[in-house]
Amino acid sequence: MENSHTPVMINEIISFLPSTKSLNVMDATFGGGGYSKTILDKLDINQLLAIDRDPISKIFSREIETKYSNFTFINDKFSQIDDIIKKTKLKDKKFDIILFDLGTSSNQLDNPERGFSFNKSGPLDMRMGLSHKNAYDIINKYEEKNLADIIYKYGEERYSRIIAKEIVKNRKIKFISNTIELSNIVKKSLPKKNQSKNKIHPATKTFQAIRIYVNDELSELKKSLNKTINILKKDGLILVVSFQSLEDRIVKDFFNHNSGKRWRSSRHYPELPDKMATQLKIITKKPLVPSASEILKNPRSRSAKLRVAQKVL
Ligand SMILES: C[S@@+](CC[C@H](N)C(=O)[O-])C[C@H]1O[C@@H](n2cnc3c(N)ncnc32)[C@H](O)[C@@H]1O
Repeated sequence: MENSHTPVMINEIISFLPSTKSLNVMDATFGGGGYSKTILDKLDINQLLAIDRDPISKIFSREIETKYSNFTFINDKFSQIDDIIKKTKLKDKKFDIILFDLGTSSNQLDNPERGFSFNKSGPLDMRMGLSHKNAYDIINKYEEKNLADIIYKYGEERYSRIIAKEIVKNRKIKFISNTIELSNIVKKSLPKKNQSKNKIHPATKTFQAIRIYVNDELSELKKSLNKTINILKKDGLILVVSFQSLEDRIVKDFFNHNSGKRWRSSRHYPELPDKMATQLKIITKKPLVPSASEILKNPRSRSAKLRVAQKVL
C-alpha cells in the first residue's frame, strides 16, 4: 500500500526541535509516518515512539522499523499514552518532544471504503480505528434530537435541526448506508444560498460532526493533553497541529490554563480547574499557519494551525 499523505508544516515543526542533543520523541499521530521519517532522518534521536489508532499505519511503520532500531510503533489511541509508554523502552524515561498532527490522513480520506469523504461513494463508516461507534448506526438509529445535537455540537452547523429532520424522514423510507446518499440529504436540507460555488461543500460540517463523534476525538485530545505534562522533560516541547476550531480551542485553552495565562475555566474545556500550576510556557503567541506556497502545493494544509508550548518545571 502506497502512502498518499503529505506531511503538513513539517519544516516549521523541525525548526522548533533542538539539534544539539539526543532526543526522546513521541509522534502521537503517526499516520503515514511523514513526521517520524523526517525527524529520524534529520535529527539525533535516542528513541522515537510512534502511535496511531489506525491499523493501516502498521503497514507504513514497517519500512521505518527496518531502517531504524530506535523506532517503535504502537497501534493504540493517544488517550492511553501513559499505559502505552509502560510497554516500551521509554517506560522510565521522559520525552523531549511530543507531537500531535490531528484529524485524518489522506490515506484515510482518499479510501472510499472508510466512508470519510462526502464526494466519494462508500459505506457510512468513519472509524479511524479502535472505535466502538460507526456512522451508519448514528445516522440510522439515533433519535432526531440526539442527531441534531451531535451535528450542532461537533459541526457547529446552524442548520443541524433541519438536517436531522431530513435524515430521519429519509431513513423511514430506506436505511441510509452510503456517503453520497447522506451528502445529498444534507445538501437538500440547506438553503440555496449556502450552496454557491465559493462556499464550503454543504455536507462538510455534518461529516465533520459525525466523524468527531464516532471517534470521540475531542475527549481523546483532552485526555491525552492532560497526560503529556507528566511525561515531558523540563524544557520539553508539545507541538500540536490542528485542522478545525474545536480542536484548536482545546489546545489553546490547555496551553493557557497551564501557563498561568487564564484563571477561569473555559467554555470549551469546562473540566479544567480554575487554578492550575504554571507548568508550561507558550512559545507560539499566535498559532503558525502554512505558507502560501505550501497551501498551493497541498491544499489540504490550508486550515492547519500549529501551537507550541514548553514545559517549564
Ligand atoms: C493528519 S494524520 C497524521 C499524519 C502524519 N503526521 C504524517 O506525516 O503522515 C492524523 C493521524 O492521527 C491518527 N489519530 C487520530 N486520532 C487519534 C487518536 N486518538 N489516537 C491515535 N491516533 C489518532 C489518525 O488515525 C491519523 O492517522
